[in-house]
Amino acid sequence: MKYHLISGGCGFVGRNMAKHLLKTTPDSVIIVDDLSVGLAPAQWPVVSGRFLGGSPKRVQGNVEFWGDDERLIFWNGDFREFLRNISANPAWLNETYGLSLDRFADVFHFAAIVGGRAKIDGDPMMVALDLSIDAEFFYWAVRHKPARVMYPSSSAAYPINLQKEGDFVALKEDDIDFVTGNLGQPDMTYGWSKLTGEYLARIAAEYYGLHVASVRPMSGYGEDQDLTYPIPAIARRAAGKESPFEVWGSGKQGRDFVHIDDCVELMLLAMDKIKDGSAVNIGSGKITSFLEIIELFTEFAGYKPPIKPLLDKPVGVHARHADMSYVFEEWGWKPKVSLREGMKRVYDAQVRALS
Ligand SMILES: NC(=O)c1ccc[n+]([C@@H]2O[C@H](COP(=O)([O-])OP(=O)(O)OC[C@H]3O[C@@H](n4cnc5c(N)ncnc54)[C@H](O)[C@@H]3O)[C@@H](O)[C@H]2O)c1
Repeated sequence: MKYHLISGGCGFVGRNMAKHLLKTTPDSVIIVDDLSVGLAPAQWPVVSGRFLGGSPKRVQGNVEFWGDDERLIFWNGDFREFLRNISANPAWLNETYGLSLDRFADVFHFAAIVGGRAKIDGDPMMVALDLSIDAEFFYWAVRHKPARVMYPSSSAAYPINLQKEGDFVALKEDDIDFVTGNLGQPDMTYGWSKLTGEYLARIAAEYYGLHVASVRPMSGYGEDQDLTYPIPAIARRAAGKESPFEVWGSGKQGRDFVHIDDCVELMLLAMDKIKDGSAVNIGSGKITSFLEIIELFTEFAGYKPPIKPLLDKPVGVHARHADMSYVFEEWGWKPKVSLREGMKRVYDAQVRALS
């Protein structure tokens, strides 16, 4: 029996990865989340069809065992405490929960304080706690030696001077170059922590032989993302026919939107292809402004409202999008969900939520 581990497994990316692994493998998946942001499995939004039953098969303390075969195991608590428990007693999970775990197979480290632009700019010291979570994670990983590790960095690790109005470029993997030391200035504490995480991933591979892949996702979105993120929030307001339609800043700022199904697929491919801790972009390679997103959602909703810019809201860098040529050309991978299809799925989910 293989066990995969997902930290932050109740968050947006984590729960989508958990569902994917349960669907596509016969393996068990242990998710660890303190629910500071994430949703417990009982509340996971059902996007298409029924995924889980309404309650766990059994509960033991802070742990829920889901499904007839108990392949989904949810440990509710701080990931650092989970790691400390294993470090103190490597047989802790087996002795306490009756598992037959030798070492983890794939480990996906998604536990982080993220929270979108408002939190990145509004509470940067809270976001800096990611440094603590990542440091404890890599310290544990190089000792426990799971078969493979996924470290999600972020597009926020890229130098902000490449993302300015009138002067922006498509961000290429080697715009961050650990070999020459050409790193640039990342975006706030969030970007600094991700850049540091990438460095730790490389050290873990080089000095300890850990198989680890990093990725730099651009703006991931999907039907079950929470409303603190712009895409579902804009879709919800369009579904409710907001008019005038508010936009943060001028709305001309652009991002590279990539559907969560494509994120999950490319993360797994990256784990097959990369083991030295280096990173690839996850994106569509296209830039779309928030005004264009509003136009699309209001077209789905069948109306054309006037736009009301909210100039006091945080907007972050002007333009952030990926140069995807490495992954497209070297790996032959392309996103499967077009912007229009993905946004329509988000819009339909918000219409359902309102009805
Ligand atoms: N979603 C994206 O587009 C995107 C883009 C770039 C990078 N990433 C990275 O991918 C990872 C997952 O992102 P997400 O969008 O799913 O974020 P999310 O906020 O939805 O998920 C993070 C999860 O971690 C949990 N968590 C936080 N601190 C914890 C702790 N100490 N112990 C246990 N659980 C804890 C939260 O409750 C939450 O469920 C993050 O590292 C993020 O930086 C995501």
